[in-house]
Amino acid sequence: MLHESLKSFPKDFLWGAASAAYQIEGAWDVDGKGISNWDKFVRIPGKTFKGTNGDVAVDHYHRYREDVQLMAEMGLKTYRFSVSWPRIYPNGRGEVNQKGIDFYNNLIDALIKNNIEPILTIYHWDLPQALQDEYGGWESRKIVEDFKNYSITLYKAFGDRVKYWVSLNEQNIFTRLGYQTAMHPPGVKDDKLFYQVNHHASLANAAAIKEFRNYVPDGKIGPSFAYSPAYGATSKPEDVLAAENAEELTNHWWMDVYAWGEYPTASWNYLGRKGIAPQLEDGDLELLKESKPDFMGVNYYQTTTYEKNPLDGVTSEGHFNNTGKKGTMEDTGVPGLFKTVKNENMERTNWDWNIDPQGLRIGLRRITNRYSLPILISENGLGEYDKVEADGSIQDHYRIHYIGAHLKAIQEAITDGVDVIGYCVWSFTDLLSWLNGFQKRYGLVHVNQHEEGEHDLKRTKKKSFYWYKEVIASNGSEL
Ligand code: BG6
Repeated sequence: MLHESLKSFPKDFLWGAASAAYQIEGAWDVDGKGISNWDKFVRIPGKTFKGTNGDVAVDHYHRYREDVQLMAEMGLKTYRFSVSWPRIYPNGRGEVNQKGIDFYNNLIDALIKNNIEPILTIYHWDLPQALQDEYGGWESRKIVEDFKNYSITLYKAFGDRVKYWVSLNEQNIFTRLGYQTAMHPPGVKDDKLFYQVNHHASLANAAAIKEFRNYVPDGKIGPSFAYSPAYGATSKPEDVLAAENAEELTNHWWMDVYAWGEYPTASWNYLGRKGIAPQLEDGDLELLKESKPDFMGVNYYQTTTYEKNPLDGVTSEGHFNNTGKKGTMEDTGVPGLFKTVKNENMERTNWDWNIDPQGLRIGLRRITNRYSLPILISENGLGEYDKVEADGSIQDHYRIHYIGAHLKAIQEAITDGVDVIGYCVWSFTDLLSWLNGFQKRYGLVHVNQHEEGEHDLKRTKKKSFYWYKEVIASNGSEL
């Protein structure tokens, strides 16, 4: 629908930016922190771009005060960060590392002092390696108890001041990349295990949400789902069906569980026929049903377009572009269900990610119609090469254009009636891209950090910093 005029952003809209512990903190072995799965994985030759790791990252652990000052200067209303599990429990459980608690206490207090609402992500992919070694991490149901216990520790420590919580960040991505494509730790390719691991993660997510009600009754919690809405390549019914298959198996498979505690029917039956559906135990579905989130967190970067894939068609998990060489991404497919195709109707980034602001509006409406939940856009942003000009400035007009177009789409969705409570740009400062080093930059603040050599980690405000500051000050009326 085309609107003649758009509704304003709500008065209390949470204008924000986001980060994740492993990508910014550094201090990987400081103050009692334990080893994470990522600390181990990045040391395996060939796993990350030019062998980058998060040992130092952008050293936020030591520079958080400066970073919060920059957030305050920008006028951020909210900042989404994650807690490193092995910083709190070096061995995953057992004795709490007080210095880890202290660090996040200091960060939270600094945010609140500057009127910035903290949004705390409990898990953004850095698992204590001790749990991986002991019982395979997410491969065992034992993780549910340990994750619940870790979450309760955070609720008790920070729940008096932190009212917005994200449970798991992108469960669909960390399970898929960890167990289907082997690109993330533990680097396994096993479809059956992938669905089982994912089920354990759903149970852990539900257990943590259930406990949340006891410890932070006035707070709000939800997962952050990496939502890539599915499009059909053509209006041929078989392509429309392929897109339906993909929407169900790659999106509803998670969101239905979060919102309803149910796996979608056709996908459940499909996986059952293949012998790879997760094994459920008594009480699992009850737990999933008892743990409805307060909002759906959405990390939106792009849509995906699908066409029919015959039974003897393409089987491939695809090739990701982790180099920034445009045109190197390969399509993926599941025979009999769908295969991805390039959508010629949109531009792509240098990493071959589709640029599709309208896809965000479409996705927000789909979630609203299906789940009737408020939505927190917990990530959206542009990963690109940035250039530092001779005068030291960074003129990232392409990022302004990208974020501006997505904010417009959100405003249209709000006008449609979608309840969007906030928007977090990915990311506040430049940070370590898990697989792409520091050349793929997302920040509103540039950090002088690179794959090779020693650098001074100086923070410089990009053009987008000043622009977003104005957007916030005008509550989105100046996009
Ligand atoms: C999201 C993650 O999937 O995408 C972030 O939650 C990540 O942690 C972001 O950095 C961008 O991914 P990439 O691969 O471009 O760094």
